[in-house]
Parts: sequence; C-alpha cells; structure tokens
Amino acid sequence: MRVAVSGSAGRLGRAMLRALEDAPYTGPFGPIGWGRDRLDLDRPEAVGRLLDTDRVELLVHAAAWTDVDGCARDPQLAMRRNGLATGVIAAACAERGIDLVLVSTNEVFDGRRADGLAYGPADVTGPVNAYGASKLAGERAALEACAAAPAPGRLGIVRTAWLFGPPGNDFPAKILAAADRARAAGTALRVVADEVGNPTYTPDLAEGIAELIGSGDVSGMHHVVNAGWVSRAGWARELLRQAGLPVPIDEIRAADWERASTPPLWAALQPTALPSGEALRSWELALADYLPALLRSRAPARATR
Ligand SMILES: NC(=O)c1ccc[n+]([C@@H]2O[C@H](COP(=O)([O-])OP(=O)(O)OC[C@H]3O[C@@H](n4cnc5c(N)ncnc54)[C@H](OP(=O)(O)O)[C@@H]3O)[C@@H](O)[C@H]2O)c1
Repeated sequence: MRVAVSGSAGRLGRAMLRALEDAPYTGPFGPIGWGRDRLDLDRPEAVGRLLDTDRVELLVHAAAWTDVDGCARDPQLAMRRNGLATGVIAAACAERGIDLVLVSTNEVFDGRRADGLAYGPADVTGPVNAYGASKLAGERAALEACAAAPAPGRLGIVRTAWLFGPPGNDFPAKILAAADRARAAGTALRVVADEVGNPTYTPDLAEGIAELIGSGDVSGMHHVVNAGWVSRAGWARELLRQAGLPVPIDEIRAADWERASTPPLWAALQPTALPSGEALRSWELALADYLPALLRSRAPARATR
C-alpha cells in the first residue's frame, strides 16, 4: 500500500515514517514522506498533483501549525493552515477515493468537564483557543469533504494529546533544562498543576496509527493516547523521579503562567480500542523508554557546565 505522511519532519511525522517502514503493507519501498518543501499548508492546492504523482492510496495528514501561542496571536493564519488547508487536502483525497487519517487534538474540547471522566469521541467539542478551533475546523472540513464526494475513501480522525518523543525539545526536555537551572539557582521548579492531559509518546502513537491502517479500515473517530492522565506538575515530578533529579516543584495555576494561548484545563482523552483490542501502554512506561535517549542527548551540555 502506498502510504504518504505529511509533516514528515515533525515529531509525529518522523515516528510515523519509522512505524510504517516496519509495517508489512508498505512493501519494500516503504512510506512516502512529505515535508514542507513538498506540501506547504499555505499552498494546499498542490496536494492533488502530489497525490497523483506519488500514486498515494492512504494519506496520514500530520502536518499542522502546532505553535499554540502563535495560533493565539494569529487565529486567521491558524484557521487557514489547520482548518481550510485540511479541507482542501481532504477534498483532494475524497475525490480520488484515497483513504485519509487526519491527526487532531484534545484541544478541540473545552476542558471544563467536572465529572472526573475523560473525553470520549462522542463528547461535545468546544475549543477555548485558536489552535483548538482551527483543528476542529479541520476535522469538520474533512468530514464535509467526504460527505460531498460521490465515492470518497475512508476517513479516520485520530485525536491525541501532549506529544513527546524524539528529537526532543518537548515538555520532558524543557523540564530537564529548567530543573538544571533551578538546581543551579537553588530554587524550585514552577510547573502548572491544574492542567491535565495524556502524555503520549510519538513512537507508541505511530504504532497505533500503523495498526489502524493495517486493519484495512481507518474510518471513525479515534482517541489514541498512552494510558493514564496527569497534570503538568505530576508529569514533571515523575520525570524528575525517573531521572534521579531531586528538584522541588512549586505548583502554580495555569492562569499564573503567562502565555498567549489559554489551554483547556481538563483535557484528558478516553482512549478508544485499537483493532487488536490492546490499549497503548501507560505514559509512565513510555517515558521510561524515552528517558535514556533524552538524558544522553543533553549529556554534552551538562558536561560543559
Ligand atoms: N504536539 C502535541 O502535543 C500535539 C497534541 C495533539 C495533537 N497534535 C497533532 O499532531 C500532529 C503532529 O504534531 P507534532 O507534535 O508532530 O508537531 P510538529 O513537530 O510541530 O510537526 C508538525 C509538522 O507540520 C509541518 N508544518 C507546520 N507548518 C506547516 C506549513 N505551513 N506547511 C507545511 N508543513 C507545515 C512542520 O514542518 P517543519 O518541520 O518544516 O516545521 C512539521 O513537520 C499535528 O496535527 C498536531 O496538531 C500534536
């Protein structure tokens, strides 16, 4: 099967290519990666020709403008890149009968749920920031494009949350760097305690998506996250525990962390079943797998201090 991945240089895109290289159905040539040089979300009309020349049978659309604070500063651009461009890409797939897996986010929910349950696929959406609104617009545009085409391919929407993984520069990497600074200054680490989500390891998510594709039917709304949910502060605490770094944490409220975007506070997703019936492992186990490489990648910086 000829599977293309947009945003192939991104955190998920890289993991997705690796998972698809290992999948038997992509054959000896493996998956097709589209970086920004091939598919630019500011010129999404180019996608039709790209689908044709690469003879794509299924597209994983992972490219997005993921700078949440940037989206808050320029909501119109966010809507064009994550909403309108997704509609154009989905319509091009639908017209050709090509299957599409659209990667979306927990930020489509308002995070105000108060019953302690995580959000399921049927729960009412209501984004509280420009990024979430633009991603929800992308979901809706893809559904409309499929409904309008006479013989569309299958559409699967995969919502996920709080991605971490290679090449770093993610929440764990930032917390480790901040912990170094806090230790040097003899201060505590300030971390938000009232924002909750599912830390999700990109290689695990990519395996889940690859499994979905391998089942032959990607259709539907899927919530694919590592098992469990936690606050930002709880995530940082577990990371420091696993890394053996005894840095105290000063818990603060999201409202006291100055940033352009407002995150949904209770943004935990209830995972949906993968075709095998297996759920992704816990985020703590995934973090333990990732941590050695993350610590190795920052070793030279520590040695020079
Ligand atoms: N990160 C999270 O915590 C999170 C949570 C939930 C859902 N998601 C969703 O998961 C997907 C993958 O996210 P990620 O964490 O892998 O993000 P990422 O590392 O920022 O990767 C996004 C990719 O999109 C590409 N891109 C950005 N703007 C573009 C444009 N104007 N034209 C073409 N390509 C563009 C980037 O290209 P360059 O490499 O050239 O910049 C990058 O390769 C996205 O759909 C995101 O909305 C992410």
